[in-house]
Amino acid sequence: MTDNNDTFPEKQKAWLAIRRGVPSKALRLDDNVAVSSKLQEGEVLVKVQAAALNHIDYMLLGLLPNAFVGRPHVISHDFAGTVVSSRDSKIKEGEEVFGAILAPTQHKTGQGALAQYVRVPAKFVAQRPQNITPTQAAGIPLVALTAYQVLFEIAKLEPEQSLFVNGGSTAVGLAAIQVAKALGCKVTATASGKNEELVKSLGTDVFIDYTKTPANEVLQRDPPSPKFHAILDAVGNIDLHLWTHSEAYLAPDGIFVSVGPRPSGAGDLPLLVRYAWEAFLRPTWLGGVKRKWRMVQVKENQEHLEYIAKLISEGKFKFVVDSVYEFDDVPKAFEHLMTRRARGKVVIKVDPNVA
Ligand SMILES: NC(=O)c1ccc[n+]([C@@H]2O[C@H](COP(=O)([O-])OP(=O)(O)OC[C@H]3O[C@@H](n4cnc5c(N)ncnc54)[C@H](OP(=O)(O)O)[C@@H]3O)[C@@H](O)[C@H]2O)c1
Repeated sequence: MTDNNDTFPEKQKAWLAIRRGVPSKALRLDDNVAVSSKLQEGEVLVKVQAAALNHIDYMLLGLLPNAFVGRPHVISHDFAGTVVSSRDSKIKEGEEVFGAILAPTQHKTGQGALAQYVRVPAKFVAQRPQNITPTQAAGIPLVALTAYQVLFEIAKLEPEQSLFVNGGSTAVGLAAIQVAKALGCKVTATASGKNEELVKSLGTDVFIDYTKTPANEVLQRDPPSPKFHAILDAVGNIDLHLWTHSEAYLAPDGIFVSVGPRPSGAGDLPLLVRYAWEAFLRPTWLGGVKRKWRMVQVKENQEHLEYIAKLISEGKFKFVVDSVYEFDDVPKAFEHLMTRRARGKVVIKVDPNVA
């Protein structure tokens, strides 16, 4: 065990989720939050340099009442920083790391990324590759883990197979394109024209501008040969056409993976019911699509993060940062993320002097 109480204070600044609602009303910047320094075996305390926002942050904030999610708790999942205390045999004090603490652990422990210090199991972090800064690293874990888990664990993609990414310019899509290309797969991706150059620069072989013609129509008219081995819907729209027409362009033993539906409000309930019916309830003998459908549920995983870190070190995975905000400007940063127009990650400087 390496414990050095001189290196961190008892109290810290942190953004707390205090009630259900929109970020501007449901979050509070508090400068008197206890630093959780009593580590259990296998845990580390990280001095956070930068954190990043994800859609799940405000979705849970707007959806679930306090009793379900242990509020108040520190918000956000992705972080990069320095280990200041460790009770782990692998990740030691002084190491520069990046990682994610996801909702189940966050709600149980109250810990989150938008704080000066976060206490996490060491297996949630990996060493930060030295060719990227903390600001660049902070946005990577959650979306890269999602991409890794979709491609390797759910789709079980192999070199030379083909992947279709709906939403190539989403942060999840950008990560999936790069992981698939590093594996040696062929990638087709959608984005709007303004993001064509970005998704192609990361290796996309075939580009579809979804603002001109819906992707399912383009693919039905001119299906790939052979058909895709996997489709990742990284947009999460509740428009189901991509799935309901997928027999035309997804191989019979292929798989359709969704990041989950994206309701815009309570009024979308009938659409959500239709989504559930079409995606996983409707049997094929009642006209259901004869393809496998799965929804990804990202999990922390050190080995997966180390795989991404290796790709970064080798120059095969480029971080894409949309914007960087100061710690006091978190509500403004959420407003920007919620436009769903970001090109890459929305990052928060927790240490104002971080690169
Ligand atoms: N289930 C899980 O475990 C899991 C894990 C991670 C993320 N997610 C979900 O995955 C989704 C994506 O997250 P993210 O952070 O990657 O999103 P993001 O980066 O914020 O997405 C913004 C991008 O989406 C593009 N976009 C918007 N509508 C589009 C459409 N109809 N077709 C194609 N592209 C479109 C925008 O490009 P244009 O401006 O060019 O349209 C913009 O570049 C979210 O709903 C998130 O909650 C789920």
